Amino acid sequence: MSFEPTPLLDMSSPEAKRASYDTLLAQTQAILHGERDRIANLAQFAALVYNSVPTLNWAGFYLVNPTNDRELVLGPFQGKVACVRISFDRGVCGAAARTGEVQLVEDVHAFPGHIACDAASRSELVVPVIANGRLQAVFDLDSPEPARFDAQDAAGFSAALAALINGTDWA
Ligand code: SME
Repeated sequence: MSFEPTPLLDMSSPEAKRASYDTLLAQTQAILHGERDRIANLAQFAALVYNSVPTLNWAGFYLVNPTNDRELVLGPFQGKVACVRISFDRGVCGAAARTGEVQLVEDVHAFPGHIACDAASRSELVVPVIANGRLQAVFDLDSPEPARFDAQDAAGFSAALAALINGTDWA
Protein backbone atom coordinates (compact mmCIF):
# COMPACT_ATOMS: atom_id res chain seq x y z
CA MET A 1 0.00 0.00 0.00
CA SER A 2 1.34 3.42 -0.84
CA PHE A 3 -0.06 6.13 1.35
CA GLU A 4 0.85 9.75 1.83
CA PRO A 5 0.28 10.79 5.46
CA THR A 6 -2.43 13.41 5.79
CA PRO A 7 -1.44 16.73 7.31
CA LEU A 8 -3.74 18.16 9.97
CA LEU A 9 -6.95 19.05 8.12
CA ASP A 10 -8.25 22.62 8.12
CA MET A 11 -11.71 22.81 9.71
CA SER A 12 -11.73 26.57 10.25
CA SER A 13 -14.57 27.47 7.86
CA PRO A 14 -17.37 25.68 5.96
CA GLU A 15 -15.35 25.94 2.72
CA ALA A 16 -12.22 24.55 4.37
CA LYS A 17 -14.26 21.76 5.94
CA ARG A 18 -15.73 20.78 2.57
CA ALA A 19 -12.24 20.39 1.08
CA SER A 20 -10.97 18.62 4.20
CA TYR A 21 -13.77 16.05 4.15
CA ASP A 22 -13.06 15.42 0.44
CA THR A 23 -9.44 14.74 1.47
CA LEU A 24 -10.58 12.48 4.33
CA LEU A 25 -12.73 10.48 1.90
CA ALA A 26 -9.83 10.12 -0.56
CA GLN A 27 -7.49 9.07 2.25
CA THR A 28 -10.06 6.53 3.47
CA GLN A 29 -10.20 5.00 -0.01
CA ALA A 30 -6.37 4.93 -0.05
CA ILE A 31 -6.04 3.05 3.25
CA LEU A 32 -8.70 0.54 2.13
CA HIS A 33 -7.05 -0.24 -1.17
CA GLY A 34 -6.89 -4.03 -1.61
CA GLU A 35 -7.69 -4.79 2.04
CA ARG A 36 -11.09 -5.95 3.33
CA ASP A 37 -10.18 -7.20 6.81
CA ARG A 38 -12.59 -5.67 9.33
CA ILE A 39 -10.26 -5.09 12.27
CA ALA A 40 -7.42 -3.83 10.06
CA ASN A 41 -9.67 -1.36 8.23
CA LEU A 42 -11.38 -0.04 11.37
CA ALA A 43 -8.02 0.37 13.10
CA GLN A 44 -6.55 2.22 10.12
CA PHE A 45 -9.60 4.49 9.89
CA ALA A 46 -9.45 5.36 13.61
CA ALA A 47 -5.75 6.21 13.25
CA LEU A 48 -6.36 8.26 10.10
CA VAL A 49 -9.13 10.30 11.74
CA TYR A 50 -7.38 10.80 15.07
CA ASN A 51 -4.17 11.99 13.46
CA SER A 52 -5.64 14.19 10.73
CA VAL A 53 -8.78 15.77 12.21
CA PRO A 54 -8.10 18.63 14.65
CA THR A 55 -9.40 19.00 18.24
CA LEU A 56 -10.26 15.37 18.98
CA ASN A 57 -9.38 13.52 22.17
CA TRP A 58 -10.82 10.14 21.12
CA ALA A 59 -11.81 8.45 17.85
CA GLY A 60 -12.87 4.87 17.43
CA PHE A 61 -15.39 2.09 17.21
CA TYR A 62 -17.66 0.21 19.54
CA LEU A 63 -18.74 -3.09 17.96
CA VAL A 64 -22.07 -4.83 18.52
CA ASN A 65 -21.38 -7.80 20.79
CA PRO A 66 -21.94 -10.93 18.63
CA THR A 67 -23.39 -12.79 21.64
CA ASN A 68 -25.56 -9.93 22.98
CA ASP A 69 -27.09 -7.62 20.39
CA ARG A 70 -28.06 -5.04 23.03
CA GLU A 71 -24.47 -4.38 24.03
CA LEU A 72 -21.47 -2.61 22.46
CA VAL A 73 -17.88 -3.74 23.07
CA LEU A 74 -14.83 -1.56 22.57
CA GLY A 75 -13.19 -1.95 19.15
CA PRO A 76 -10.27 -0.30 17.35
CA PHE A 77 -9.66 3.24 18.60
CA GLN A 78 -7.12 6.00 19.22
CA GLY A 79 -7.01 8.04 22.41
CA LYS A 80 -7.07 7.30 26.11
CA VAL A 81 -8.08 3.96 27.62
CA ALA A 82 -11.90 3.83 27.46
CA CYS A 83 -14.85 1.98 28.94
CA VAL A 84 -15.16 -1.47 27.37
CA ARG A 85 -18.86 -2.41 27.41
CA ILE A 86 -21.78 -0.05 26.78
CA SER A 87 -25.37 -1.23 26.98
CA PHE A 88 -27.73 0.06 24.27
CA ASP A 89 -29.60 1.77 27.17
CA ARG A 90 -26.68 3.97 28.11
CA GLY A 91 -24.70 6.93 26.89
CA VAL A 92 -24.41 8.65 23.55
CA CYS A 93 -23.08 5.48 21.91
CA GLY A 94 -26.02 3.49 23.25
CA ALA A 95 -28.44 6.09 21.87
CA ALA A 96 -26.84 5.83 18.40
CA ALA A 97 -27.01 2.03 18.55
CA ARG A 98 -30.62 1.97 19.81
CA THR A 99 -31.98 4.49 17.30
CA GLY A 100 -29.68 3.85 14.33
CA GLU A 101 -29.35 7.63 14.09
CA VAL A 102 -26.38 10.00 14.24
CA GLN A 103 -26.00 11.59 17.69
CA LEU A 104 -24.59 15.11 17.65
CA VAL A 105 -24.05 16.33 21.20
CA GLU A 106 -22.88 19.91 21.62
CA ASP A 107 -22.53 19.65 25.41
CA VAL A 108 -21.99 16.18 26.84
CA HIS A 109 -22.73 17.45 30.36
CA ALA A 110 -26.29 18.20 29.22
CA PHE A 111 -26.82 14.72 27.70
CA PRO A 112 -28.67 12.45 30.15
CA GLY A 113 -26.63 9.30 30.75
CA HIS A 114 -23.49 10.47 28.99
CA ILE A 115 -20.60 8.15 29.91
CA ALA A 116 -17.48 10.18 30.72
CA CYS A 117 -14.56 7.96 29.69
CA ASP A 118 -12.31 11.03 29.61
CA ALA A 119 -13.22 14.03 31.79
CA ALA A 120 -11.75 16.32 29.10
CA SER A 121 -14.55 15.51 26.64
CA ARG A 122 -17.02 18.35 26.07
CA SER A 123 -18.78 17.42 22.81
CA GLU A 124 -19.37 14.20 20.92
CA LEU A 125 -20.45 12.81 17.55
CA VAL A 126 -21.54 9.18 17.14
CA VAL A 127 -22.35 7.67 13.73
CA PRO A 128 -24.02 4.23 13.44
CA VAL A 129 -22.21 1.76 11.18
CA ILE A 130 -24.80 -0.28 9.27
CA ALA A 131 -23.67 -3.01 6.85
CA ASN A 132 -25.42 -6.06 5.39
CA GLY A 133 -28.69 -4.54 6.61
CA ARG A 134 -27.81 -4.51 10.29
CA LEU A 135 -26.04 -2.41 12.90
CA GLN A 136 -22.44 -3.61 13.17
CA ALA A 137 -20.83 -0.85 15.24
CA VAL A 138 -20.87 2.83 16.10
CA PHE A 139 -18.08 5.29 15.31
CA ASP A 140 -17.51 7.63 18.26
CA LEU A 141 -15.68 10.96 18.23
CA ASP A 142 -14.96 13.05 21.32
CA SER A 143 -13.66 16.60 21.49
CA PRO A 144 -12.40 18.74 24.37
CA GLU A 145 -14.04 21.72 22.60
CA PRO A 146 -17.72 22.50 23.28
CA ALA A 147 -19.95 22.23 20.17
CA ARG A 148 -17.00 20.97 18.10
CA PHE A 149 -19.25 19.06 15.66
CA ASP A 150 -22.01 20.27 13.35
CA ALA A 151 -24.11 18.83 10.53
CA GLN A 152 -21.22 19.27 8.08
CA ASP A 153 -18.97 17.14 10.28
CA ALA A 154 -21.70 14.51 10.58
CA ALA A 155 -22.07 14.43 6.78
CA GLY A 156 -18.30 14.36 6.21
CA PHE A 157 -17.69 11.45 8.58
CA SER A 158 -20.76 9.62 7.27
CA ALA A 159 -19.35 9.81 3.72
CA ALA A 160 -15.94 8.49 4.80
CA LEU A 161 -17.65 5.74 6.84
CA ALA A 162 -19.76 4.75 3.81
CA ALA A 163 -16.53 4.12 1.88
CA LEU A 164 -15.14 2.16 4.85
CA ILE A 165 -18.33 0.08 5.10
CA ASN A 166 -18.30 -0.76 1.37
CA GLY A 167 -14.61 -1.64 1.41
CA THR A 168 -14.81 -4.01 4.38
CA ASP A 169 -16.04 -7.58 4.91
CA TRP A 170 -18.67 -7.71 7.67
CA ALA A 171 -20.21 -10.67 9.42
N1 SME B 1 -19.04 9.08 25.88
C1 SME B 1 -19.51 7.83 25.33
C2 SME B 1 -18.73 6.67 25.88
C3 SME B 1 -17.57 6.28 25.05
S1 SME B 1 -16.23 7.24 25.28
O1 SME B 1 -16.55 8.63 24.99
C4 SME B 1 -14.94 6.75 24.41
C5 SME B 1 -20.98 7.65 25.60
O2 SME B 1 -21.58 8.40 26.37
O3 SME B 1 -21.56 6.72 25.03
